[in-house]
Amino acid sequence: MRGMRKPQAARTETIGMEGEKHAMAIELPELPYPKDALAPHISAETIDFHYGAHHATYVKNLNNLVRDTEFAGASLEDIICKAKGGIFNNAAQIWNHTFYWNSLSPDGGGEPTGAAKTAIDQAYGSFAKFKEDFSGKAATLFGSGWCWLIKNPDGSLSIEQTQNAGNPITEGKKPLLTCDVWEHAYYIDYRNARPKYIEAFWNLVNWSFLASNLGSK
Ligand SMILES: [Fe+2]
Repeated sequence: MRGMRKPQAARTETIGMEGEKHAMAIELPELPYPKDALAPHISAETIDFHYGAHHATYVKNLNNLVRDTEFAGASLEDIICKAKGGIFNNAAQIWNHTFYWNSLSPDGGGEPTGAAKTAIDQAYGSFAKFKEDFSGKAATLFGSGWCWLIKNPDGSLSIEQTQNAGNPITEGKKPLLTCDVWEHAYYIDYRNARPKYIEAFWNLVNWSFLASNLGSK
């Protein structure tokens, strides 16, 4: 099924020609669908900038920042949980964007079924209430950041905002779904109308990805 790839870092070590070990670079993961596949809700032009420029730049920046530091060769998750400042910001933005691309699917949208429906109904009573609450938190996040559906350590679900590059894994919470509400996610298609972008988001939500995250550790 398309859209199920999860964030990962290329981080294995390799032996160079001279025999010394080199930490392999963090790589930009492939998009799980063609760049025009989310249109008309999210245009190919937005993907060109958002994935091809912003996401790619975070990867380039991180590789430059971690060179010759304790984080060279570390996993993204390790970097996110241990680093501060620019290294954290770029690592978390790489992870968050990969998770975001997988939270969307050209085959997504509509109402959840199966495990995703069961979990949402248990937590929010109905999909309509979940959609209202999530949309509200996404719309009211001040400035740049992310709106998440997360699973808490006790198994309960919450909708949470994080500012800038913030990622719930730093607090031991498991992301299930995210919506990027940085302006660069919607400005080309919707100018400053974030609520219109959030409405479009619901046409693309990858419920299978949410269900797979619910079931994984
Ligand atoms: Fe973004």
